[in-house]
Amino acid sequence: MKNQFFKALHLKATDRGELLRFSRKSSVPADRLIYYDRHNILPAGKDLQKICGTAGISQTQLMLAIGIFDDRLRTLLQKNADSIYQSLEQPQDEGTSKLPMPPLVLKTKLGKLYQGDCFSLMQHQDSDSVDLIFADPPFNLNKLYPSNIDDNLRTEQYLGWCKDWLDECIRLLKPGGSFFIWNLPKWNTYLSSYLNQRLTFRHWISVDIKYTLPIKGRLYPSHYALLYYCKGEKPAAFHPDRLPMDICPHCMGDLKDYGGYKDKMNPDGVNLTDVWLDIPPVRHRKYKKRNGSNELSVKLLDRIIEMASDEGDLVFDPFGGSGTTYAVAEIKRRKWLGIEIGPVEDILVRFEHIHEDADYIAKIRKDINCLFTKDDLKRRIENGWWTPDSVREKNRKKI
Ligand SMILES: C[S@@+](CC[C@H](N)C(=O)[O-])C[C@H]1O[C@@H](n2cnc3c(N)ncnc32)[C@H](O)[C@@H]1O
Repeated sequence: MKNQFFKALHLKATDRGELLRFSRKSSVPADRLIYYDRHNILPAGKDLQKICGTAGISQTQLMLAIGIFDDRLRTLLQKNADSIYQSLEQPQDEGTSKLPMPPLVLKTKLGKLYQGDCFSLMQHQDSDSVDLIFADPPFNLNKLYPSNIDDNLRTEQYLGWCKDWLDECIRLLKPGGSFFIWNLPKWNTYLSSYLNQRLTFRHWISVDIKYTLPIKGRLYPSHYALLYYCKGEKPAAFHPDRLPMDICPHCMGDLKDYGGYKDKMNPDGVNLTDVWLDIPPVRHRKYKKRNGSNELSVKLLDRIIEMASDEGDLVFDPFGGSGTTYAVAEIKRRKWLGIEIGPVEDILVRFEHIHEDADYIAKIRKDINCLFTKDDLKRRIENGWWTPDSVREKNRKKI
């Protein structure tokens, strides 16, 4: 809810004079009061004392009004849960009316694509029915989408909307199902703390892709946050790819010594970490499936779907965009369910040319789950570097 901080201090958000009087009385600068209100932040230290003193309220009252609970307040609420529940206004009969089912616009051997609001589709799906969910929502960066959705919501509105679709996704996920959320680190800090109370945290994966130009007074944003959760204690599917070793592209020599144990290196490649440096941005027109931004790399979805699902599983993505998730799911023989609120023509065209994505996936997969790609191995031998075979041969001779 908006302006809860001002409401707690009995201030009208629109009355500048009232705000200035409060600021003078409390000796807390007006712009700092506006900052607390706009971002719904709990003041600390002297500000907290002065604000509560001037408004004549306790810290607990302020926390209740702005909806921020520390452990002490949470324990107090838990202790008094019954009496608090009795005093609450009960919500009107919720959840009986459903949005109408959106129109089906594409049916393939394995999947179905609908056009409309993701809530209208999710409401008609059974609980515990999906094996893997990947969600790449709008980032609330005031971008113009082909669907003309409002991408400039107030923080609480955007987070409230996110929590609503997160709730639906959690309901749809099977026990053991995996849930990935792609967003800016700023938003995923909030979504992560919400999800921590509902699912099991697996990883915060940093995917190194620069997504904006450098911003004055800030570090250069260089990674997206990919949250990875599962429903219940353990994921039903988990088979991460292994990647080739880092080597110098010029001389083909080792760039890291991986502990110096060449003979212990797994010939299938090195373990996938939670920092992904090899996901390309989709910038070049030739590789883009739709004009405008926000299309994700097929390589990213290939890795996620491979890691967290099996053939025949059902994959759901509530934010279709150019249909990357659906195309990759189809190619990898997963069932899929999709929806896009805006135009879907790009997805339809993509499926007509799905062999392009399939060829790309085949190319990517040729160069993973090995210690060196075929080409690199050949060049390493030419340049006299060790290979798994040469290490094995050397060890054999030692015996
Ligand atoms: C960031 S893009 C997704 C891009 C996609 N991952 C890809 O690789 O092409 C987000 C998409 O969600 C769509 N969208 C926004 N709100 C929606 C809603 N309520 N229901 C369904 N789609 C929505 C937007 O129109 C936009 O195309």
